[in-house]
Amino acid sequence: MARTFFVGGNFKLNGSKKSIKEIVERLNQASLSENVEVVLCPPAPYLEYTASLVQKKQITVGAQNTWTKASGAFTGENSVDQVLDVGAKWVILGHSERRTIFHEDDKLIAEKTKFALDQGAGVIFCIGETLEEKKAGVTLDVCERQLNAAIAEVKDWTNVVVAYEPVWAIGTGLAATAEDAQDIHASLRKLLAAKLGDKVAQQTRILYGGSANGSNVASFKDKADVDGFLVGGASLKPEFVDIVNSRK
Ligand code: G3P
Repeated sequence: MARTFFVGGNFKLNGSKKSIKEIVERLNQASLSENVEVVLCPPAPYLEYTASLVQKKQITVGAQNTWTKASGAFTGENSVDQVLDVGAKWVILGHSERRTIFHEDDKLIAEKTKFALDQGAGVIFCIGETLEEKKAGVTLDVCERQLNAAIAEVKDWTNVVVAYEPVWAIGTGLAATAEDAQDIHASLRKLLAAKLGDKVAQQTRILYGGSANGSNVASFKDKADVDGFLVGGASLKPEFVDIVNSRK
């Protein structure tokens, strides 16, 4: 089954109106491969501004986090209804930085995921192991535990994209090899098939994230179970266009 190539740009807590305008205009002016879906995820204050600058249908905007409720006494949180209202279509949930810095557990992330999907957003659902877990040989156990929490809550996976982001590769410049990523992605797809059926497993995009950049993405080109990338640092740079076009 052909899965549309998907590249997310996670700007994290970086950017300004000026820098975001440069990023979006670069993408608007670039010749992008047709069979790629691009989602730009700026800091929340810039969601509406970013969406207003986009000129290509294949480019949409996403939030980096949303809460389990649409509104109410939740100071500081983002509402999925409100980010949809200003033009976002996607939400990143379960990012390792939300799990480690903000102490979000599997249950909360699953609840956020269900709610965001129920409200009409697409969800980029992040999983991945720490270096200690990798060294202990429990990578797939960790990813299975994280996925199972969402599987328990979410029945319709049509609008879910899974992002495998080994924590030890995030921001380190030390990406997983394409071969290792393929092996893990293939195992994740088998897990999805066992839990949700072959159709869901085959339609669900599984992205790689963790120091993906303009120089290393070519090595992933022939990896059948790597359906795209979730990109941090490199999404702020001109090489992001090369990453978007890396699967012609
Ligand atoms: O969500 C993507 C991010 O965690 C990867 O960051 O800078 O290693 O590409 P980076």
